[in-house]
Amino acid sequence: MKIYAIILAGGKGLRLGEETPKQFLPLGDKSVIMWSIEAFINSNEVTSVIIVTPEMHRERMNQIIDDMEDSSKIFKIVTGGDTRQESVYNALTCNNFNKDDILLFHDAARPFLSNRVIQDSISLTKIFGASGVYVPAIDTITKIEGDDIISIPDRENLFYTQTPQSFKYDIIKNAHDKARKKSTFRATDDVSLVKQAGIPVKKVEGEYENFKITTYSDYEAALIKVKSFTK
Ligand code: CTP
Ligand code: MG
Repeated sequence: MKIYAIILAGGKGLRLGEETPKQFLPLGDKSVIMWSIEAFINSNEVTSVIIVTPEMHRERMNQIIDDMEDSSKIFKIVTGGDTRQESVYNALTCNNFNKDDILLFHDAARPFLSNRVIQDSISLTKIFGASGVYVPAIDTITKIEGDDIISIPDRENLFYTQTPQSFKYDIIKNAHDKARKKSTFRATDDVSLVKQAGIPVKKVEGEYENFKITTYSDYEAALIKVKSFTK
């Protein structure tokens, strides 16, 4: 049984508004994506790292890997798809995985992933086959249709979704294959595909530090955070 980390960096970062996709922006002494890659490389249990990148940035990605001191855990660079889901699928089909291999899918744009969250994700996935990382919702969330307030779900049961989302290979591959047969193939998140396939998924306690860089102000927050590390 092997443990693969799959770094999803196939996006364009449109909401951030820089020409360079956010995963390649500088953050302290390295790029955003390198923070994510190193989190997994530093985990003893992770065997290999797969990186999904836009085809037009493949050269840049190769260069980043070439510049690494030790790139022995980098297993493959895979071309991304038009959607996150397609990027995940390209990773799922890039190798002859064994059915019990564990795959951890992580947003490249979440640079502050702790070893504790990686370890808990691996442990729970070994036992239950599927897990996702969540933190309690801070804001009250309201369901609205049109301009009508429909309901205000109890905040105690609401969580924000983070990554990694981790699965045994056969579970995630079957879930994707099922979803691809239906016209409803559109989900921003793999846990929802696995749930649709009828498989239960366990919660890993996340950390607010493991936020995703989505907007420019998220990037600024990440820059400030990194500065505080070096003080
Ligand atoms: N991602 C991917 N392939 C895609 C789209 C997204 O691998 N076709 C990755 C992104 O690189 C990112 C993660 O999925 O690390 C989370 O997606 P998101 O925050 O939406 O990133 P982008 O799609 O790049 O940003 P935006 O939606 O603002 O364009
Ligand atoms: Mg996106």
